[in-house]
Amino acid sequence: MTDAVSPAPEGRAALPLIPGLADVPAARSSICFIDGDAGVLEYRGHPIEALAEQSTFEETTYLLLWGQLPTRAELDKFTRDLSTNRDVRVRLIDLLRCLPDTGHPMEALQAAIAALGMFHPDRDPLSATDRYISAVRVIAKAPTLVAAHHRLSRGMESVPPREDLGHAENFLYMLTGEVPEPDVARILDVCLILHAEHSMNASTFAARVTASTLADPYTVVSSAIGALTGPLHGGANEQVIHMLQRIGEPDAVRPYIEDLVRRKQRIMGVGHRIYRVKDPRALVLQKLAARMIAKRGANRLLATAQEVERVVAEHLAAKGIHPNVDFYSGIVYEAMGLPAALFTPVFAIARVSGWLAHWLEQLEDNRIFRPGQVYSGTHGERYVPIGQRT
Ligand SMILES: CC(C)(COP(=O)(O)OP(=O)(O)OC[C@H]1O[C@@H](n2cnc3c(N)ncnc32)[C@H](O)[C@@H]1OP(=O)(O)O)[C@@H](O)C(=O)NCCC(=O)NCCS
Repeated sequence: MTDAVSPAPEGRAALPLIPGLADVPAARSSICFIDGDAGVLEYRGHPIEALAEQSTFEETTYLLLWGQLPTRAELDKFTRDLSTNRDVRVRLIDLLRCLPDTGHPMEALQAAIAALGMFHPDRDPLSATDRYISAVRVIAKAPTLVAAHHRLSRGMESVPPREDLGHAENFLYMLTGEVPEPDVARILDVCLILHAEHSMNASTFAARVTASTLADPYTVVSSAIGALTGPLHGGANEQVIHMLQRIGEPDAVRPYIEDLVRRKQRIMGVGHRIYRVKDPRALVLQKLAARMIAKRGANRLLATAQEVERVVAEHLAAKGIHPNVDFYSGIVYEAMGLPAALFTPVFAIARVSGWLAHWLEQLEDNRIFRPGQVYSGTHGERYVPIGQRT
């Protein structure tokens, strides 16, 4: 039924198709640097290990958004702006209450962030003041939305935020109604730092594409949250814990992993587009997992995970496949008492900072994204009326 006609190219330059846009630069950016062969990750030139050791999520967020470490006065103001913007309107809590229990918390977060924008209309993405206020609101309120949905979906009332607690500390408080131990809050704070940014990954690219249309930041972040949900991206941390629970004991690791390798199945929490060595975030998270487990007593998941890492290395290290950020994070969260469904939302409340840094950067020198494609369809098809189709 195809009348062959000469193909009409979409654009002028016929560039080769690069699946997944691997290694194709999509923006000029000064936010994050990764050397995947050496295992280097820097935010604004600062090695991730130093930030994990010495910074806080609030300070790292300031660094990501505004390009340099704040002075004491700048950090105090920014921290105050975040803590006084945590509360959300009752109608937003009602919206969360109305969502079906069958939904995933990431779906609830995506819907709630999109709705949040409706409570703050008339924002001008080209106004510096509006940009600051929007960024602060989204970062401050995301944990409140996750914690409120978590409690409401379990038949409990939400816990209002407290202004006197740190960002991570307040999130754990809103989940449980109890102020966490300082070192548990600090471990979560470090996890948020480690997850706050990671250059041009799928969700950040989604954020930049949406930002390039001059859409508002709430829409930018809700697009990115949608991209983060997938098991090949942020959803992997939840899949890792399910995998470790299915495996059960360290002794059961080898047959389980070797069966996956034989069947060429993906092992969750390992492999990365950029890293050819162990993800530097996984190195820090592995230590945090050991710290959390030392606090909470023996946990066979860590021993099982370490055995998975060993068996994966035997079979896949030659291909550059090693643990990524999602491999050990779930073990830390599980030891903190967080359910698996919250692992990706915790990733999201951290990554909001990176997405918004990219939103701000995209606006500095914006051109709407409109990539090409390699057309592989037909041309000049004859329209056959429905009654004559066979
Ligand atoms: C992250 C990820 C999507 C990157 O994918 P990518 O850069 O497109 O890599 P590819 O899919 O091209 O894989 C390259 C090779 O490594 C293999 N591979 C990649 N990740 C693998 C994994 N997790 N388990 C087993 N094999 C894997 C592929 O099968 C492929 O092998 P082949 O060359 O023999 O066909 C991929 O590693 C993955 O699916 N990991 C599991 C999900 C995950 O943990 N995601 C979180 C990332 S932070």
